[in-house]
Amino acid sequence: MKRYFLTVVFIAAAVTAHGGLETAGGGYAPAGEAASFFSDARTQNRVDSLLALMTLDEKIGQMVLYTSHFTVTGPTLAKNVEQAIRNGTCGNIFNAHVPEYNRNLQRIAVEETRMGIPLLFGYDVVHGMETIFPINLGMSCSWDMEGIANSARVAAREAIASGVNWTFSPMVDITRDPRWGRVSEGSGEDPYLGSLIAAAMVRGYQGDDLSADSTILACVKHFAAYGAAQAGRDYHTVDISERTLREVYLPPYKAAVDAGVGTVMTSFNDIDGVPATASDFLFEQVLRREWGFNGFVVTDYTALSELIPHGVAADSLHAAELAVYAGINMDMEGDIYHKHLRTLVDHGRITHQQIDRLCGEVLKIKFGMGLFDDPFRYLDTEAHKAEFYKPANIAAARDMARKSFVLLENGKGTLPLEDGKKIALIGPFADSRRDMLGSWSGQGKADKVTSILDGFRRRFGSGNVVYAAGCPPSGDDRSGFAEAVAAAQEADVAVITVGLPGQWSGEATSLTSITIPRIQQELVRAVRETGKEVVLLIVTGRPLDLSWEAENSDAMMVVWYPGTEAGAAVADVVSGDFAPVGKLTMTFPRSLGQLPIHYDMKNTGRPYTPGQGEQHYVSRYFDTPTNRPLYPFGYGLSYTTFGYSDMEVLTPSVGMGTPVRVAATVTNTGDRPGEETVQLYVRDDVASVTRPVRMLKGFAKQMLAPGQSARVEFIIAPGDLEFYRRDMSWGNEPGGFTVWIGGDSDAELSGKFEIR
Ligand code: GLC
Repeated sequence: MKRYFLTVVFIAAAVTAHGGLETAGGGYAPAGEAASFFSDARTQNRVDSLLALMTLDEKIGQMVLYTSHFTVTGPTLAKNVEQAIRNGTCGNIFNAHVPEYNRNLQRIAVEETRMGIPLLFGYDVVHGMETIFPINLGMSCSWDMEGIANSARVAAREAIASGVNWTFSPMVDITRDPRWGRVSEGSGEDPYLGSLIAAAMVRGYQGDDLSADSTILACVKHFAAYGAAQAGRDYHTVDISERTLREVYLPPYKAAVDAGVGTVMTSFNDIDGVPATASDFLFEQVLRREWGFNGFVVTDYTALSELIPHGVAADSLHAAELAVYAGINMDMEGDIYHKHLRTLVDHGRITHQQIDRLCGEVLKIKFGMGLFDDPFRYLDTEAHKAEFYKPANIAAARDMARKSFVLLENGKGTLPLEDGKKIALIGPFADSRRDMLGSWSGQGKADKVTSILDGFRRRFGSGNVVYAAGCPPSGDDRSGFAEAVAAAQEADVAVITVGLPGQWSGEATSLTSITIPRIQQELVRAVRETGKEVVLLIVTGRPLDLSWEAENSDAMMVVWYPGTEAGAAVADVVSGDFAPVGKLTMTFPRSLGQLPIHYDMKNTGRPYTPGQGEQHYVSRYFDTPTNRPLYPFGYGLSYTTFGYSDMEVLTPSVGMGTPVRVAATVTNTGDRPGEETVQLYVRDDVASVTRPVRMLKGFAKQMLAPGQSARVEFIIAPGDLEFYRRDMSWGNEPGGFTVWIGGDSDAELSGKFEIR
């Protein structure tokens, strides 16, 4: 096979700093420089001048956020928001995304109140506004930072066209338990990758000029460690060590702060006994003193009043007091600040200075966004309406969708499907539009969605596609089986869409089962009995136990909830017009019983070693032959194959603080062109505390023609090897390290280096 080399490719492993953290040992890592749009002296002077003119009630009004009645995303609904704005007791609105309505509210705020302070209009623009991109867990599998940033840029422009100037995104909660329905909103299990994605989305929304009329204010959420809810049960207790909190869960929030995010949202959960919304450790110590955050903090929906059921606040007055001392600026729908802050001031339990500081940080953002210069800046909707579904937005959504798909099985080369083949397209999601949007789909319209059936008919020709729903997503209605079997019998290949409905992921959708509903498995079995090759397309917002499906299909690909361009993107990949590039960012377990399972676990003192025969007294399950997941983090197939060779540690021994260079060759060993995401993993072999068996520390995308090779080099910066040592001080330790380069977290090609 003709092999020719690409030139050497230098890839510097991005450093995701934990920087600026005060640690128990008192050591300070160099503070990560938080980009700031709001800390200039002129803005502060404007804030101070305005505060001096405001009454206490007007200041409290700026700390209040009510929902409009257009969309309800929580357990309560605001009162008459127009009157509250007119009274000056509500300075911010969310879930309002009708330009004329928003414009009128802004007019009331600016023209009918004493101070004329403009409103913020917040909304959950999470993976698109009108043009809907794949769910965030799907987009994370693209490992395409520019594509992810662009999805946020597109969403920002469409949000502005709807009168929205503040998005409650990015959601960056690290997640390792697919029972939790909100894994769909995040970027998976890895702090390194999650940090890069968090920064990319903040840059996409906010650009480098928050006052520009093409950028909106972002809000990183949910601070903190909401994804660590016990047993994957939403809103449940989080009980983790400070080391785990700082090593695993905090980095993506820190990356968002360093990227200049203007707001942070509190999480519903408690951590180590303290609800986030009452945690001065999180919001004063970590967020502000250690990280230098200088925007404002908003609670999640009624999270402030939930301090009472949490059992840390005796009543609403006490809840308000706790939140002020935690440094919480704004109360989302809790109505607690509105009702109680004046009383707390009158009773001397909080001070005017505390109110000025918390209100001032909100005003600072509004100045930074240019709202005082032009309150209707984000409400020139005629100028922006052309944004909705414009061709570039549609193309971007389609591109991110096909890059999000992960090919899990294709042993017989069933995919891609050749033109001219007759396809039986079967299953409860083949002709579904609503499910393709997933949860938190903004103002995405189902009638704008290209269904998988639409996409197949357009790409393969209607005459080559026979459709049969076969069964509903759940229940026991088998009446459609016969039609599905008949469709398969007259076709060359059966493509079956199986999985979970779009509304089975997102908030308050924790599940005790992560297998595909039985009725769908029975449908697959019935179709398979025809003897035709079976391709499964997995429609899901979370990792599933696909053990049965892997044994009962010839090819299997996760398509997540692909968004507006679902059918076009699926047809692009199934036809081979676009070869799959996706790599899993969350482990797919072999069974529910393995949870939580993630690639960067600890070795334990009695590790189970695959392939070493019977091992009894080791850390494993008695009823399962292996600890390995079904599909590991970083895994994803292409239509070609890749081989790795010639690992070289160019700097086998370096002094502390010196970068390490490693390289390997990746070769396209198949007969089709393909793009590989080459991944770099590192293990600290011996340290003052136990360390993960592997940690992702870099990746590089490499397009290769059949037979082509590339030499890929990584530079491991000293910062990439820092961690919380035994005394919780942050930094490096000398010693030996193992490094792997490969196509997923099971990479075998390895080398060693030492830090002296
Ligand atoms: C919800 C969600 C949060 C969202 C907020 C406003 O409860 O937890 O992610 O941004 O309310 O809709």
